[in-house]
Amino acid sequence: MNTSVIRLKTSLQDSVLELLNEQIAMEAHSSSTYLSMAGWCYAQGLNGSGDYFKKQSGEEREHMLKLFDFITDAGGLPVSPDVTKIERSFEGLRDILVKALEQEIAITHSFNRISDHCHKVKDYQTARFLHWYLDEQLEEEQQARRCIEIYDLIGAEEGGLYRIDKEIIKLKTKE
Ligand code: FEO
Repeated sequence: MNTSVIRLKTSLQDSVLELLNEQIAMEAHSSSTYLSMAGWCYAQGLNGSGDYFKKQSGEEREHMLKLFDFITDAGGLPVSPDVTKIERSFEGLRDILVKALEQEIAITHSFNRISDHCHKVKDYQTARFLHWYLDEQLEEEQQARRCIEIYDLIGAEEGGLYRIDKEIIKLKTKE
């Protein structure tokens, strides 16, 4: 089979393919970071938060695979990424919640950049595919912000951490 001929028959431009593969790596890093956060929470007895972050880790992997499948369907070559530099020590649950929100905001910015590029190079097919991620990011940021609000409203003192932990996982069970 002449693979190079098949690869020529794709409308996916190299610059778009590169950005999509970079996004695959970002989603994989996000998935591993959330798993690391889950591990930390379980080790502290915060099982509700551990379950929340483990579920979040699975969702990031799904985001990664959705990009992987899109590239494949469009005739491009998806790259399985190296995942390195995963943070493992955290100052506390609030530190984790803030980092989770920062991570989601960085991902939103990244999707905005890719969408912007797709419009510049007139790749409207990929731009349309990315709408799903832009909608998803709105939800993910909202949920991450809500976790911090729950933490601050209840307060960690006098058994508050136990209640916070119970409330955080409820955000995922509502879905
Ligand atoms: Fe895949 Fe939470 O963004």
